[in-house]
Amino acid sequence: MTSDEAIYDAIRMILPNTRLLRPGEPGIEAYARDESTARPVDADLVAFPRSTDEVSRLLQLCHAQKIPVVPRGGGTGKAGGAIPIPGGLVLSTEALCGTPAIDRRDRLAQVGAGTPLEQVKRHVEAAGLFYPPDPSSATGCTIGGNVATNAAGPACVKYGPTRDYVYGLTAVLADGRVLRSGHRTRKSVSGLDLTALLTGSEGTLAVITDVTLRLLPNPGGAETVWISLPSLETALETVAEITRAGLQPRMLELLDSTSVAALRRFGESRVPGDLSCALVVEFDGSQDSLDEQLRGLIATIPESAQSYVAKSAGERAAWRQLRGITSIVLARVRGRKYSEDIAVPLSRLDEAVAEMRRCAREHGIEIACYGHVGDGNLHVNLLYDDAPHETIALVADEIFEVSLRLGGTLSGEHGIGQLKRHMLHRELGPEMARLQRGIKSLFDPHDILNPGRALAD
Ligand code: LAC
Ligand code: ZN
Repeated sequence: MTSDEAIYDAIRMILPNTRLLRPGEPGIEAYARDESTARPVDADLVAFPRSTDEVSRLLQLCHAQKIPVVPRGGGTGKAGGAIPIPGGLVLSTEALCGTPAIDRRDRLAQVGAGTPLEQVKRHVEAAGLFYPPDPSSATGCTIGGNVATNAAGPACVKYGPTRDYVYGLTAVLADGRVLRSGHRTRKSVSGLDLTALLTGSEGTLAVITDVTLRLLPNPGGAETVWISLPSLETALETVAEITRAGLQPRMLELLDSTSVAALRRFGESRVPGDLSCALVVEFDGSQDSLDEQLRGLIATIPESAQSYVAKSAGERAAWRQLRGITSIVLARVRGRKYSEDIAVPLSRLDEAVAEMRRCAREHGIEIACYGHVGDGNLHVNLLYDDAPHETIALVADEIFEVSLRLGGTLSGEHGIGQLKRHMLHRELGPEMARLQRGIKSLFDPHDILNPGRALAD
């Protein structure tokens, strides 16, 4: 195991001149946790390979010695998927980082997996192009972590999640073999789509070292509308109206009364309006199309609402930031917060919200729902001070049950990690779970890649 001197020496031989963190060394504490409520575990060894070849040699060693490997990007995951495993190796992709190679004619970018998403987006924008996925963790997450978890964000209501933008990958299999999947084309139906399979596999099938991303043309300008609403029911009716009207915003976000109150109390900018709930809606396109979309939106807004159109890019950025920090401000309402991210069909949203609130109320737990309501994906947060762990686990499982009963899923975008794994068999059923285990053993026969994570037993 990685605490053995012989293993340490062998890893040092593979990575002679790079940082290799052992217990007690400065900075190693940061690798004990991610941004979930999963219990931190001290890492035994954290390695920072700089190339696909170094990753390959590390995995050859770990495969031969049956050492568990936890691949890790920016550590911003919300499901405990990057927490160290005792005796294992944390394989950080941070050093697999560089300036994206942007090809304007093929409209794609090739970039190392450890490159921060923010950096990728900045370069893509500077080239006059657009990469849509926009998770709230954009400042800390890496593009490889986004691919490994199929990350999403507000813009996905129009543009879809990360998976829709991955043309190809370089990935290292558990035994060190290097796999190059995908194409530099928009279309391909040659063979099974392993790029799509690896996207969202949460480090259980391979270590992604390099990604080729599909880019879009610049979508033009944007208009953002903050709609302050008197109740959650009115907010959900408005969402249904927006969908019925055939509008296609690039952001359709819900903030319930607890979320709005938390933003008023702890947010850095003023929250528009004085009603209890809010929708944040944004469109993009040419000026003519923006005008038409705004007119369409205004026709869906109920009389009881107050609506505000952002007057400047600064105001738009402030409103996006309010939505982006919602998870952070909710964490300050009470001593503790437990968050889920179920997604249900749009037609079942009102039932889902009513049932989730009822089950939290029955157990005396405060609940806040916010997030990507336009694609049925809600971040459901339980806020509490000293409720027993069993009560929170029970309410969380009831919330999962509600989602599954209504045709939804355990996770719209945060992944399964270790926190939701106990419920995964309920969503998949025995046949799917068996097939997925078969795929896992084909890719990783010794079960060294993020074992005990993301896949059902
Ligand atoms: C958000 C993160 C938590 O949407 O997914 O804020
Ligand atoms: Zn989200």
